[in-house]
Amino acid sequence: MKKHILALVFALLPCIALAAPSNYPLEKANVDLRDKAALQDGLRTFVNFCMGCHSAQYQRYERVATDLGIPEEVMMENVVFTDGTLIGEHMRIGMRERDAKQFFGAAPPDLTMVARVRGEDWLYTYMKTFYEDQSRPFGANNLVFPNVGMPNVLAELQGRVVMGCAPVEVRDGRKVQRDPLTGDALKEEQCDVLTVVEEGAMSAEEFDTTVRNLVSFLAYSADPIKLERHRIGIYVLLYLAFLFVFAYLLKREYWRDVH
Ligand code: HEC
Repeated sequence: MKKHILALVFALLPCIALAAPSNYPLEKANVDLRDKAALQDGLRTFVNFCMGCHSAQYQRYERVATDLGIPEEVMMENVVFTDGTLIGEHMRIGMRERDAKQFFGAAPPDLTMVARVRGEDWLYTYMKTFYEDQSRPFGANNLVFPNVGMPNVLAELQGRVVMGCAPVEVRDGRKVQRDPLTGDALKEEQCDVLTVVEEGAMSAEEFDTTVRNLVSFLAYSADPIKLERHRIGIYVLLYLAFLFVFAYLLKREYWRDVH
C-alpha cells in the first residue's frame, strides 16, 4: 500500500511542478502546423518582437528556412539581421543572462521548447492577456502569469488594454448557463475583464491571427518533425491494414485442412 502511495506521489510530481500560478481559463489556440504562410508570419513576429530578449537556441535558421519553405536569400535578408551571423547558426541572441536578470528581475527563458512546457493554449492566452498596471516596473501585468517580468511587447499592435469589472456570461465548460424560466443568459460581475481602450496598429481579429501565427511558430519550433511523424504514422497504419488482410487470408488457408 505504502509503495502504491509513493508511486502515486511520484507520478503526480510533474503536475505540481508545472501547476500554473493562475487558474484563468485558457483560450484555444487552434494552430495548424500545415499552414506554412501562418508559420512564416509567426517567424516574422518572433524575430521582430521576441528575439530582442529571447533566443531559440536549439533551432538553426537554416532548418527553419527549409521547413517553412523560405529561400535562403530571403531568410538572410529578412530574418537573420545580425551582421556576421551565418544561416547555419543557432537562433541565439546577444543579451547576457546576468544583464537580463538585472533589467527584468528574471531572465527571459529560451523559447525553443516553450510550447511543450506551457502548451499552445497557455501561450496564446498569455500573449493576449497583458494589461496596463502602473504598480509594475514596466507598467504591465498579465492574467495567466501574474506579476510577470516581461513588458507588454505587442502593445503597439494590440493597443492599450485595461482590466476592469463587467458582467460576463456564466459558463459551465463551454456552455452558457441560462435562466430556466426566461431562457436569458445568466451573467455575473467579474473583475478580470480586459478591454482595449485605445486601438493599436491592428484590429482585434488581426491581432488574434498574429498571436495564433506566433504560437504556431513556437509549436513548430518545439517539435519540428511532428508533421513528418504524422505522415509516417499514416503510412504505417495503411501498411498494417494491408498486412492484416493477407495475414487473415493466410490464416484461413492454413486452418482449412484442420477443420
Ligand atoms: C524586453 C524583453 C522581452 C521581450 C522583447 C520579450 N520577452 Fe518574453 N519574457 C521576458 C522576461 C524578462 C521573461 C521572464 C518573466 C518572468 O519570469 O517573470 C519573459 C517570459 C516569457 C514567457 C514565459 C516563459 C515561461 O515559461 O516562464 C514567454 C512564453 C515569453 N516571454 C514569450 C515571449 C514572446 C512570444 C515574445 C515576442 C512576442 C517575447 N516574450 C518578447 C522578456 C521579454
